[in-house]
Amino acid sequence: MGQVKKILSQELGKSEVKKKIKSIEKEPLGSASIGQTHRAILKDGTPVVIKVQKPGVAEQVRLDLSLLEWFVTPAALAFPKIGLQEMFQDFKSATLREIDYREEARNIERFKKNYKKVFSAADVVFPDYFPDLSTERLIVLEPMRGQQVSAIKKGSRTATQAAHKSLAAVLEQIFDHGFFHADPHAANLFFIESEGKMGFIDLGLVGQLEPKDKALFVKVVFAILQRDRKNLAKSLFELGTPGPGTDFGQFDQGVQNLLDEVKAVGIEKIRMEKLVNQLLAVARQNQIYIPNRYVMMIRSCLIAEGLARSLDPQISVFKVALPVVARSLLKSYNPFKK
Ligand SMILES: Nc1ncnc2c1ncn2[C@@H]1O[C@H](COP(=O)(O)OP(=O)(O)O)[C@@H](O)[C@H]1O
Ligand SMILES: [Mg+2]
Repeated sequence: MGQVKKILSQELGKSEVKKKIKSIEKEPLGSASIGQTHRAILKDGTPVVIKVQKPGVAEQVRLDLSLLEWFVTPAALAFPKIGLQEMFQDFKSATLREIDYREEARNIERFKKNYKKVFSAADVVFPDYFPDLSTERLIVLEPMRGQQVSAIKKGSRTATQAAHKSLAAVLEQIFDHGFFHADPHAANLFFIESEGKMGFIDLGLVGQLEPKDKALFVKVVFAILQRDRKNLAKSLFELGTPGPGTDFGQFDQGVQNLLDEVKAVGIEKIRMEKLVNQLLAVARQNQIYIPNRYVMMIRSCLIAEGLARSLDPQISVFKVALPVVARSLLKSYNPFKK
């Protein structure tokens, strides 16, 4: 606690802290490797949540990254085909963004803006933040309303609603906005039942797709919905970067075999997680490199699907996905236009 006050003083100055912050709750809401979160009250009585970065974290992370780079650079030269350098650069930039809380502030603004677009669902909210009280190592946030999804009783009516809302929201962020929460697990979501809204917190790490990705995903989804086996393999192939040993015919055969299995079991009974893992395995076997932004996207989908199923085991992922994809298609002639 003394440490939290110390960081606050370092970041804002002692007099500013005295002037703006009335009290800080002793017990943290959360304490992770990078940061710690506390409820607090501002001088004017406003309740807030403050998130501070633990001392020395940024320095340690930078040091670890440069050590890692020292290993990766010669290894990348020795094994140019694996794409080590690209992998490391992806990892480095994601890690550096995570230790700068101004990134979370920027992400909040971008999310809010995305949800103001035409045809967007209006039932997703993000906390406001206090720019005057936020720095690289500190962010002061509006407390999210509603109930943390991790506290909702599984199988209840509330759980069923929260399951649909959370899954639809993550899918919309991915397929429509191309800008999505990278870790949509139950502690990072709040369900505001009286308003039918879903609140997202912990917005430091996001995934971001490129404009051309959307057209490719739409092709994949269409191929799945139309059970168009030939086009599915083709559009999946376009998503990845083929290696020197990749043979399209073999990849196509791998995808067809997988789809035959899916058909035999019935698409509704298949878990997305299993299907995606198998697809990734087929890609890997054929030396197709899947860019990090897709891996993040897949991870987010799987986290959201897992959460939705744990809240409501009966949920039909395809029924939730359909309107989201339809809405996205409405805009697909103008992909990712702001
Ligand atoms: N705006 C907020 N409103 C309410 N609780 C919050 C808010 N931000 C964070 N918390 C609480 O603090 C915890 C940790 O904050 P979070 O932003 O998720 O950081 P971490 O990266 O440590 O997971 C959350 O799980 C939640 O319980
Ligand atoms: Mg969190």
